[in-house]
Amino acid sequence: MANEYLKNLFDLSGKVAAITGGGGVLCGTMSRALGRLGVKVAVLDLFEEAARKVADDIVAQGGEAIALPCDVLDKSNIEAARDAVLARFGRVDILINGAGGNKKEATTSPELSFFDLPPEAIRWVFDLNFLGALLPSQVFGKLMAEQGEGCILNVSSMNAFRPLTRIPAYSAAKAAVSNFTQWLAVHLAQEYSPRIRVNAIAPGFFLTAQNRFLLMDEATGELTPRGRTIIEHTPMGRFGEPEDLIGAVVWLLSPASAFVTGIVVPVDGGFSAFSGV
Ligand SMILES: NC(=O)c1ccc[n+]([C@@H]2O[C@H](COP(=O)([O-])OP(=O)(O)OC[C@H]3O[C@@H](n4cnc5c(N)ncnc54)[C@H](O)[C@@H]3O)[C@@H](O)[C@H]2O)c1
Repeated sequence: MANEYLKNLFDLSGKVAAITGGGGVLCGTMSRALGRLGVKVAVLDLFEEAARKVADDIVAQGGEAIALPCDVLDKSNIEAARDAVLARFGRVDILINGAGGNKKEATTSPELSFFDLPPEAIRWVFDLNFLGALLPSQVFGKLMAEQGEGCILNVSSMNAFRPLTRIPAYSAAKAAVSNFTQWLAVHLAQEYSPRIRVNAIAPGFFLTAQNRFLLMDEATGELTPRGRTIIEHTPMGRFGEPEDLIGAVVWLLSPASAFVTGIVVPVDGGFSAFSGV
């Protein structure tokens, strides 16, 4: 009886989710986890091959999934992906805005000072993280407005609370994602339906392609001084594993958080709570 109650509280089976950046490390793990929970998953990624691998894994686990090429910076491309999801699954209940990242050219270093960061690199990072969350929210959010229900989950970052050194564009862009999460939550609830919710997770530090060059010495495989500082400032003393995100993701997408909208949940091993002393 208690288990049935728990199951209903977190039940996502039969829901349809579109997940941008679904071919990546963190959102690939989210996609597979949702597939195991009975969610029909549309894995959207700039790289169709990466999306296909994740979708194939979900199907191999007995779930339902499709892989779709989708550039989150191209609205007509997102609309084409939406149409493909509707053709296959008939509706969209969940959007996870996972596509995002940083790049070396927008990161200060001994070789590249703040004063010389090229505007095109800064724009690239800002567009990918901020516009890349806003455009899919327009396309899929409109469906949710028509349905009168839905759930959007953005992926923010520790940088949004306090900027990290060296990555001004990524920090500002993720702060914009957190701000937009609050804005959109209010807008959709007030203007369309209180049953459309918008929240975000703010992952702490997870070793992935976008940050490995900052955290690990490529030659030795040892932590860089920055990587060591992060571990020293993470009370749990380790980097996150992608699976660490799943509990918060399921909670924010499920009926268990029906009265929760406009929040950013840190999943960070205590990083954001620690003053450093
Ligand atoms: N790794 C971390 O420690 C960390 C921490 C906080 C937040 N994040 C955020 O989590 C999210 C996932 O990051 P990740 O670490 O798994 O990185 P990742 O590079 O493994 O995944 C990002 C995915 O986005 C896709 N992508 C890139 N540009 C795209 C575009 N224009 N359109 C569609 N897809 C595109 C990539 O192909 C890739 O599959 C990102 O928003 C990232 O900023 C990561």
